[in-house]
Amino acid sequence: MSRLVIVSNRVPSPRERSQLAGGLAVALREAIGGRETLWFGWSGSTSQNPPATPRVTRLGRIGFATIDLLPADYEGYYRGFSNGMLWPLFHYRTGLAEFRREDHAAYRRVNETFAAALAPLLRPGDLLWVHDYHLIPLGAALRRRGFSGRLGFFLHVPFPSPTIYEALPQGDALLADFAAYDVIGLQTQQDAANLNTLLAEGGFAVRASVFPIGIEPHAFAREAAAAAEGPEGVRLRESLADRALILGVDRLDYSKGIPQRFRGFEQLLKRFPEHRGRVTMLQIAPVSRGDVTQYRALRRELDELAGRINGMQAEFDWVPLRYLTQTVPRNTLAGFQRIAAIGLVTPLRDGMNLVAKEFVAAQDPQNPGALVLSRFAGAAHELAGALVFNPYDPDETAEALHIALTLPEAERRVRWQQMWEAVARNTAGAWARNFVARLEHAAAAAA
Ligand code: G6P
Repeated sequence: MSRLVIVSNRVPSPRERSQLAGGLAVALREAIGGRETLWFGWSGSTSQNPPATPRVTRLGRIGFATIDLLPADYEGYYRGFSNGMLWPLFHYRTGLAEFRREDHAAYRRVNETFAAALAPLLRPGDLLWVHDYHLIPLGAALRRRGFSGRLGFFLHVPFPSPTIYEALPQGDALLADFAAYDVIGLQTQQDAANLNTLLAEGGFAVRASVFPIGIEPHAFAREAAAAAEGPEGVRLRESLADRALILGVDRLDYSKGIPQRFRGFEQLLKRFPEHRGRVTMLQIAPVSRGDVTQYRALRRELDELAGRINGMQAEFDWVPLRYLTQTVPRNTLAGFQRIAAIGLVTPLRDGMNLVAKEFVAAQDPQNPGALVLSRFAGAAHELAGALVFNPYDPDETAEALHIALTLPEAERRVRWQQMWEAVARNTAGAWARNFVARLEHAAAAAA
């Protein structure tokens, strides 16, 4: 069996490594299986004198190799080009995108640094799987250094329509970088169609395919059922005093439509006053990328909005909105999702949105909650049983919430069953296995 080499900007921290919990690690756990694996990426630290060779540690069959970044490279590559330009652009937010040539240069420089540090660790038969928008040029950089094995790339975020992509200075070079991969994976048909239009126009032969990412639903369901009865679950239920819980869980990111969600909830309380005093909304939004300007502005906006909504809507014995920016442990969140009557997921654009899938997995099949899901989440293409709505319209959001709060139990069960089947079909394991199989097949064809 070929060795698998995973490359991502973030690698599991030493603390996370024994369990491989959280984010990408959960999704990759099964693909790694018994296979020899090397996981390469940024250490999460900067230093003035980063060593040229990676720090390597081993845990069973997995080697972790990480490098530090120069502070100026971190600024330009991570804060600047990746999260100040590509992130907003790929989420259709051209107005928030900020391009600087020095950021673009740092992005290319860091990809070269990654390639230079990784190349000596590679063997000819390795299967290389690169993840996400930070590292699009890495495959081409490795080819230039003589790597001849198969190269795969998966984009976890949306890929925008060609007219949006046009706004990217030096976008042709980035497109050529995509074309250096043997296998390109995207989340939805729409994303793949967007990239494929550009690749065809550019005269490139490679085509992107769809690999919708998922979760491990059975394990998540068990975790949720247990945590709902744990101390935090009990405290949450007691604090609700029989009110229906509307739950939102997101990184504090402008792609998640959190201000729109708050306004939609406010509209629910105004237009459907029968819910006043009977619902509580809990928004958990841990601060993310707090050193990127656009994220700071969002945080201020939400602080103000949450304060205003509670100021205007609360009563002396009822606070409608609870808003937290601290991190809540993953299993506690799972328990909260099981307790919630409504999962409210409102991205203005999202590659997939695994919170939506986790909400489904967390439900009690006998008495499931309802999922209110933005049509702009990749997950909306799979979860037909959700109440799908347009988060730009606070009235539509309020109406979807009202319907969700008044759905008869029998209909909730039917809707949940459809969603559970989708979540149980496209699991994290299936996603990773399919991608690696495709990569292996490409290797066999070329051999
Ligand atoms: C998204 C991206 C990931 C990223 C994560 C957290 O899910 O697709 O690549 O790691 O956000 O963001 P951060 O900037 O903290 O890595």
